[in-house]
Amino acid sequence: METEVKKQIRKYSILFGLLVLGYVILYLRVSDFNRQERVIYISASDTEEEWTERDIRITMAPRGGSTDTWIKRIYEEDSNGELQEVQYAGIIYDIMVVNQAQAKVVDWKLQIEVPDDCFLNNAWCGELEIHQNVGGNEVYQALDLRKCIEKKVDIHLNHKIEGTDLMIPVSKGDYFVYLPSVRDEENVIEQRIQNTDDYYSKRVDFISYHKTAGEDMTPMEFTQAKLTYHLEKDILRMHAFKLLLVLFFIWAISVIIAINVDIKTKKLLKQRNRDVKIIEQSMTAFMGFIDAKDSSTNGHSLRVAQYSRKIAEKLGFSKEECERVYYIGLMHDCGKIGIPENILKKPDKLSPEEYEIMKTHTVLGEKILKDFTSIDGIKDGVRYHHERFDGKGYPDGLAGEEIPLIARIICVADSFDAMNSVRCYPNHLSKEEIVEQLISNRGTQFDGKIVDCFLEMLQDGTIEF
Ligand SMILES: [Fe+2]
Repeated sequence: METEVKKQIRKYSILFGLLVLGYVILYLRVSDFNRQERVIYISASDTEEEWTERDIRITMAPRGGSTDTWIKRIYEEDSNGELQEVQYAGIIYDIMVVNQAQAKVVDWKLQIEVPDDCFLNNAWCGELEIHQNVGGNEVYQALDLRKCIEKKVDIHLNHKIEGTDLMIPVSKGDYFVYLPSVRDEENVIEQRIQNTDDYYSKRVDFISYHKTAGEDMTPMEFTQAKLTYHLEKDILRMHAFKLLLVLFFIWAISVIIAINVDIKTKKLLKQRNRDVKIIEQSMTAFMGFIDAKDSSTNGHSLRVAQYSRKIAEKLGFSKEECERVYYIGLMHDCGKIGIPENILKKPDKLSPEEYEIMKTHTVLGEKILKDFTSIDGIKDGVRYHHERFDGKGYPDGLAGEEIPLIARIICVADSFDAMNSVRCYPNHLSKEEIVEQLISNRGTQFDGKIVDCFLEMLQDGTIEF
């Protein structure tokens, strides 16, 4: 039983270990996935298919409303040092960064190439790190363009202030990097809700001015960009994790059930052992009553019980069946409790009348046990153990397999003990004579199959004379 418990513990420990291993592998894979820095290069030639396959879709376009473009005139010195009025088109650009991945987008930044000469004027939703080529040297500074004038920020990039407008000149080859990381709420683009079209996105807007003539408001095209980002998978939202969780719950429930079954089994086993003890002690006590009435039996019932159990074992009965046979063997002569002592203890041969009274111990025993239902076949064993295989026995004269098997077993065990004991045969039979008796009564008094079995056990020493 202990080994069985150890086996169960080992089995559940291995399963738990596998679950932990599964979680560790999943955690390491997710961590590795989350650590990777990813880059997307964007150009005007990108096709719709390419965009569909990417983790992130970016759209860069001028806003296009009537108030989103305007004309601004600035006086600039010409090559002769004279001030000339120059016309600029002010345009608001919208850049949408849409998360198409099955993960959160974090730590992202967007670098936008400047296509031609223009002024950067404003940008919102974060800081712009503007890279400017000044006389062959790259100068850069990260600025929140909306607050530069108001907060009187020290700008060391080339710039000028026209009215309330900050104008930072940039040319082809310059670039600016949108840095959402300075604001937590901009730094993360949430994961799409599964099986829906609700994609999360961030919008980056900026204003630029470029030279224009007349009514021409054609916007400049910002088409070259580079996006750097990380994807972050949430292990708690992953199917694999949910599967592990379900397996863990199944494991936990199985462990609880196994513990409960183990406790109940131990309890039942304890109860069974107690019941077995009660039965055994009751039977032994009852056997004591019979022996007390007829002390000359000298442990006859106990020996018959032991021989009967050995026969049952030899016949291939189960452990429980063998125990049952043993108890019935113990009780086989219980009816003798109702036989007068003068007959039971009579040393001489019984008269025919006395013999008839003695024979009633079989039916008397059955009557005594009429309400005894806890051992199957006990009444059969008690009533029929003096039946003969040839039908000449008592009390009912049953023959062959009409006689219950238990009674046929006890019959052989009972007769062997009688022949082997001093009581019935004062000059009790020799081993050879007993064997001869068993063989000669094979098929008449005894069931031949049981006699063969018994003889084998006498031969191999399982039963001793
Ligand atoms: Fe008997």
